[in-house]
Amino acid sequence: MTDRPVLSASRITHIYPTPRGEIQALREVSLTLRRGEFVCLVGPSGCGKTTLLRILSGLLPPTRGEIWLGDQPLRGPDQRIGIVFQKDSLLPWRTAIENVRLPLELGGWPGPEATQRAQALLEQVGLQGFEHAYPRELSGGMQQRVALARALAADPEILLLDEPFATLDAITRERLNEVLVELWERQRKTVLMVTHDVHEAAWLADRVLVMSPRPGTIVAEIQIPFPRPRGADRWSHPAFLQTVWAIRQALGNGGG
Ligand SMILES: Nc1ncnc2c1ncn2[C@@H]1O[C@H](COP(=O)(O)OP(=O)(O)O)[C@@H](O)[C@H]1O
Ligand SMILES: [Mg+2]
Repeated sequence: MTDRPVLSASRITHIYPTPRGEIQALREVSLTLRRGEFVCLVGPSGCGKTTLLRILSGLLPPTRGEIWLGDQPLRGPDQRIGIVFQKDSLLPWRTAIENVRLPLELGGWPGPEATQRAQALLEQVGLQGFEHAYPRELSGGMQQRVALARALAADPEILLLDEPFATLDAITRERLNEVLVELWERQRKTVLMVTHDVHEAAWLADRVLVMSPRPGTIVAEIQIPFPRPRGADRWSHPAFLQTVWAIRQALGNGGG
């Protein structure tokens, strides 16, 4: 890991105009992601996490503030940023492999190579044998594996994950977190993952950013000092539980 920033946000404020007046979702959020690090973002429901991820991905222009991708301002969606949302983001009329191929098709990849790469990615997320299944034929966990493979298709530098496994049962979720960490360790993407689960954040991240209630802003940054790999025995380490507690405290403080 080096200290070179791959993505940074400077004083992001976001206000949604609505028929009933303005809703301020974010207030002066600044953050920097350094190459290869795994950062988790936690915060109470409605504090603006999804808004922030949409802004960081270039899908939503912020009301105020700037996003930098490397040394250039981010002007819109970019192939260097892959995104996984909570659910329902696959195209229902495309099979698993066709969903993963989509970014490659848009990127102008020749057909056979796009298929080969999509196939390899589906294998990496443990979905060999399900290439030709439609999303409705896959479990929620399998659909999120496809979404992860699709986010990796264009070989992005950065992965933005918005509570990607939140709707899944605990065991499936733990397994998918393991898949994610394996991929990250192999490919060293820079990851920013939103989760509302403080244990998950402490287990996965190098660094946890804690947001206040709406309008969300970052109220704490907690380093996670544990070496990797981090096995299931983490539960027996008092230091791990202390870190979880520190994150929870920061959330509480933000809640006022
Ligand atoms: N498109 C929108 N129009 C108006 N208000 C919105 C819109 N999207 C989100 N909001 C509001 O902005 C706030 C932050 O929402 P969101 O970013 O989804 O929070 P989180 O992901 O942390 O739960 C909430 O109060 C939500 O109701
Ligand atoms: Mg959200």
